[in-house]
Amino acid sequence: MKFKNLKISRQERVAKVVIDRPKKLNALNRKTIGELHEAFSALDDDPEIRAIVLRGSGPKAFVAGADIAEFASFGPAEGRELAASGQDLLFNFVEKMHTPVIAAVNGFALGGGLELAMACHIRIASHNARMGLPEVSLGVIPGYGGTQRLPELIGRGRALEMILSGAMIDAERALEFGLVNQVTALEDLENHCLQLAQKIAKNSPVAIGHAINAVNAGSRISNSGFQAEIAAFGTCFGTADFAEGTTAFLEKRKPDFPGK
Ligand code: COA
Repeated sequence: MKFKNLKISRQERVAKVVIDRPKKLNALNRKTIGELHEAFSALDDDPEIRAIVLRGSGPKAFVAGADIAEFASFGPAEGRELAASGQDLLFNFVEKMHTPVIAAVNGFALGGGLELAMACHIRIASHNARMGLPEVSLGVIPGYGGTQRLPELIGRGRALEMILSGAMIDAERALEFGLVNQVTALEDLENHCLQLAQKIAKNSPVAIGHAINAVNAGSRISNSGFQAEIAAFGTCFGTADFAEGTTAFLEKRKPDFPGK
């Protein structure tokens, strides 16, 4: 498998997938989402691979979100399509995989980055990790399942505080919330995740696949929740607030929202 924005390696029955756009803090553009879909499909179909560790390249970021530069000029229909196809190709896809994916959250996990970590089966963070859903600061809402998975993982009140404030939380707070399972030093993170993956890899892959299916079947998230998120995400793309929020980010200034 040859990819532009991913690096993939194997250690026995465990694969490591590194999202490799460090200059853009590993932001998810369409190409990267397509590559992740292709890589995860192939690894899930590979009988030798029993667990996967996913991390971002460099010491600073897991993934700093969807690529703002790529979607800033989109209108509502393109916005809806962006969310729907991303959910289908990557976020819902990862959640349903039979090969467990461990997110090694090695720095910023913001917007689509936190949504990707939440779609993974297990999350472990380094002490320097910062997590948040800052979309409302851009005039948009989370569109890759964040409005659904965050309340399920940490509860509605905490999720609403994070989504409405757009504020980041640190690794310790994420541990307290149950957003991540464990916190380690940055230099230990990858080995820690690989060791857990090796432990999982010793168990029955058939049973593991069934366990993931059963946990997913009990999810409180309904398809209508995801559909409502996609519709609202698209609607935001037609607003003056969205134009101001994305332009301000690209011009490296604070937004001044025209408002309701
Ligand atoms: N989309 C596109 N580019 C992004 C990005 C994103 N989500 N996040 C970071 N980048 C780019 C920056 O534009 C910058 O590019 P440049 O060097 O060509 O100007 C580069 O990555 C480094 O980011 P920078 O902002 O200079 O780093 P920082 O350490 O000052 O700040 C963050 C780090 C994560 C706080 C800041 O990059 C940020 O707020 N990113 C956006 C987070 C976000 O809103 N995500 C949700 C998107 S829906």
